Amino acid sequence: MQKNFSLKPYNTFGVEVKADWFTDIDSEEQLLTIIDDLPEMPKLILGGGSNILFLKDFKGIVIHNNIKGKKIIEETETHITVAVKGGENWHDFVMWAVENNYGGIENLALIPGKVGTAPIQNIGAYGAEVKDVITLVHTLNMTNCVPKKFDNTACQFKYRDSIFKKPENKGLYFINEVHFKLTKKHHILKMDYGAIQEVLKQQNKLQPNLEDIAQAVIKIRQSKLPDPNKTGNAGSFFKNPYISDRKRRQLLLKYPDMPFYKTNQKEVYKIPAGWLIEKAGWKGQQFGPVGVHPKQALVIVNYGGATGKQIKALADKIIADIKQKFEINLHPEVNFI
Ligand code: FAD
Ligand code: EPU
Repeated sequence: MQKNFSLKPYNTFGVEVKADWFTDIDSEEQLLTIIDDLPEMPKLILGGGSNILFLKDFKGIVIHNNIKGKKIIEETETHITVAVKGGENWHDFVMWAVENNYGGIENLALIPGKVGTAPIQNIGAYGAEVKDVITLVHTLNMTNCVPKKFDNTACQFKYRDSIFKKPENKGLYFINEVHFKLTKKHHILKMDYGAIQEVLKQQNKLQPNLEDIAQAVIKIRQSKLPDPNKTGNAGSFFKNPYISDRKRRQLLLKYPDMPFYKTNQKEVYKIPAGWLIEKAGWKGQQFGPVGVHPKQALVIVNYGGATGKQIKALADKIIADIKQKFEINLHPEVNFI
């Protein structure tokens, strides 16, 4: 355990905050010891720190999840089920699957963070969501370390949401293992996202494989999302809002070019928050150390030295402006600590 520990290298926003205490864990037994020995101390689980904004120092212990391991637990002619420990790096797991020709997560390449965090907001990108391959989530209760399993239905997955995001469950469950069911053959390649098709066409990949899709996704991501190793950010700061069909039609009268997507709810549409933020004039704007990314208006960046409060203040201004201009409420995707 380390005292008065800087979390700057442990959050992709690169915000300088300190934790009273910090420890890495590489086994479930270590978590049990912490829970039993420090019952009163506030605890924060940290994965890759890529979906978190620290607003102040953390008065308690930060538990950095480093529990690793991966095992195929079931295999048929067409599928494998693999149990992966929560401390594994997400992108490394994706590339392991691609190299072994296991399909289902190739569109989720290069998403930062750990495997144990992936179910929390049901990570998604380029036409895929992790909920479609998760069969089981193993958790440990943070008050007594007692295990509890959640099958896919019990996880209550939705767009950027799950049971683990509910306010009453925040910090209650430590996700120590996730099971994924992946295809061995007859892969269902997801190529609806326009930019994927463009890249594959440019590269003359007429019959793409899993590796081609993953590499196309990596190329697209690198072209528009800032690299957190160079510029502090946490990916999309806000979720894309859901609006009613009436609201969509009202907006289309004024902005006929507004993009929108169908959802699985009747007469409910999703519109890109990045479009709203760009339309409102924020894209590429910089205010001291914080700003809105010039290539993706949904990403707020720390150009160096920003505090969590400065980043949140910009987000709050954007929320108020979008509300005023479009009568739409934006909700942060990032977790505030
Ligand atoms: P952290 O930031 O460490 O933690 C997030 C929250 O989960 C915290 O509240 C933490 O306490 C809690 N937590 C962490 N681990 C556990 C655990 N094992 N058990 C219980 N609670 C835990 N997301 C997408 O969905 N799609 C994208 O395309 C995408 N692109 C991104 C691009 C960039 C450049 C960046 C920086 C982020 C992007 N994200 C994206 C967001 C982020 O990568 C994901 O949300 C990721 O799953 C977060 O994982 P993490 O381990 O870094 O979480
Ligand atoms: N757009 C603009 N201006 C911008 C950005 C976007 O007009 O500055 C419009 C464009 O019309 C574009 C559309 O928004 O076609 C969608 O943009 P993009 O494909 O970049 O996706 P997004 O909706 O901004 C979502 C996820 C990303 C994910 C991408 C790719 C959310 C909140 N974000 O972004 O996830 O990588 O799709 O699938 O759903 C994250 O969650 O951190 C994240 C990066």
